[in-house]
Amino acid sequence: MTPPPGEVREMLERDAKEEATDVENYVRLAALAEKEGLIALKLKMEEQAADEDEHGQEMRRLGG
Ligand SMILES: [Fe+2]
Repeated sequence: MTPPPGEVREMLERDAKEEATDVENYVRLAALAEKEGLIALKLKMEEQAADEDEHGQEMRRLGG
């Protein structure tokens, strides 16, 4: 069954917020990695943060 549009928008909004939380967490991990001198890990965490940010933007775009 196809959910009514209101539910889809709510789902996308909730997903976008979760992606934003993921971004914050990966940015925090990147900072910790930098503090420990783990540069490769820092860059991977930043790349992951960027990916999650793109996911959130896509959710917001789909939600209109
Ligand atoms: Fe994601």
